Amino acid sequence: MEKLLAPAHRILEQNWKGGFTIPTSKLYPFQWNWDSGFITLGHYYNDPKRAIQELTSLFSGQWENGLLPHIIFHSETEKTYFPNYDFWKANVNAGAPIRPKTSGITQPAVHGFILENLLHRNPDDAEMIAFVKYIFPKMVHYHRFLYTYRDPFKEGLMFIFHPWESGRDNSPLWDESMNRINVKAGDLPAYQRRDTSIADPSERPTSAQYDRYVYLLMLGQKYKYDGAEIAKESPFLIQDDMMNAILIRSNQSLIRIGKRFGFDVAELEEWQSQSIKSFNAKCWNEKLQTYVVYDLRGEKQVEHREIGGIVPLFAGIPNEKQAAALHGYLADLHKRNFYLCPSFDVDSSLFDSKRYWRGPIWPHMNWMIYHGLKEYGFHDTATILRSDTLEIVEKFGFFEYFESQKAIAANLTKGFGGDNFSWTASSVIDLIHNP
Ligand code: GLC
Repeated sequence: MEKLLAPAHRILEQNWKGGFTIPTSKLYPFQWNWDSGFITLGHYYNDPKRAIQELTSLFSGQWENGLLPHIIFHSETEKTYFPNYDFWKANVNAGAPIRPKTSGITQPAVHGFILENLLHRNPDDAEMIAFVKYIFPKMVHYHRFLYTYRDPFKEGLMFIFHPWESGRDNSPLWDESMNRINVKAGDLPAYQRRDTSIADPSERPTSAQYDRYVYLLMLGQKYKYDGAEIAKESPFLIQDDMMNAILIRSNQSLIRIGKRFGFDVAELEEWQSQSIKSFNAKCWNEKLQTYVVYDLRGEKQVEHREIGGIVPLFAGIPNEKQAAALHGYLADLHKRNFYLCPSFDVDSSLFDSKRYWRGPIWPHMNWMIYHGLKEYGFHDTATILRSDTLEIVEKFGFFEYFESQKAIAANLTKGFGGDNFSWTASSVIDLIHNP
């Protein structure tokens, strides 16, 4: 597997744009929030300074209210992406930076645990320590945004009002909520998608789905992206299990880092104690024996097995029995000749093994679940997960996502979506170095 290292580093090098890294050329030509977090893991092995620069550029897009946007548009002349900064109009919010331009929504808060991971590699490095002290308050401010503006009932669980915030853009999880949106002629400004002329349309969201994404974007814009009216009006209002699990995991890291460097962590500890309790109360589904997302608008759980429901393993949230159930689900999929971990329930009629978040494998998701399995002592399945991830990249290339059914994959020569993908490269580098 060592032979994957050189091409992986080459991809990170190619996608490095002097200060930040794009996920892949053409399809995603700017800096994406959680991609950047995972990307630093790989950069660190070649050049720790780049890992620091990557996070510094990302946080240069942070808003005064603490929001860390999902896209930072470092270039204003690059026009091949929709929705671009001029469509988001983030500056309707007075606290959005004038430069760099940004989007108006967020993505999973991976940065706390990423920072701890980097610090752990070289705990006494003076440059790293100086960086940690600089970035720590910004990360806490980001979490404060989530618990202030995205938690109207003060439950310790943040909501999202757009599927893109979840990082799992077109998962079937969102279908029911998205179907509440009826876009009528004249509701939306005219727009032209760019993704379908770059990638295979059969691997991308449909146009009806896209109209609804744009509808929610406009709703956010109407309320300056942080107004309380968003929660009152949005047809899509979800407490995502994965985003909250990631936030909890990053809280843990920030608490440990804060204690080491003498920061006040009382606020983080308060969020944390409330979050874990609410998480288990609202997101565990006894019938399915997995975590699920909670639909705040419909006031009910969304009852689907899905990859986000396994991520709480990585945050140490499940008790032993819950962890065993999550592990059993993965072990069974392996026996049934699937690569680990399909992004959606393979037995559901909504499963689609080649369309984006409706079934394929995503390497950075595997990275989190791999570490979660190890922390709970499920070493055999962790090893399978790691070798599946390395195997698909070796066989099919450094793509964005991959076929999950081994029988179908046997007839394929490549993965899906964008090629030379940064977080795929980065996850591979770290899984090889840090087994
Ligand atoms: C897609 C993915 C999202 C990712 C982005 C850039 O929108 O769904 O998770 O951050 O691409 O890679």
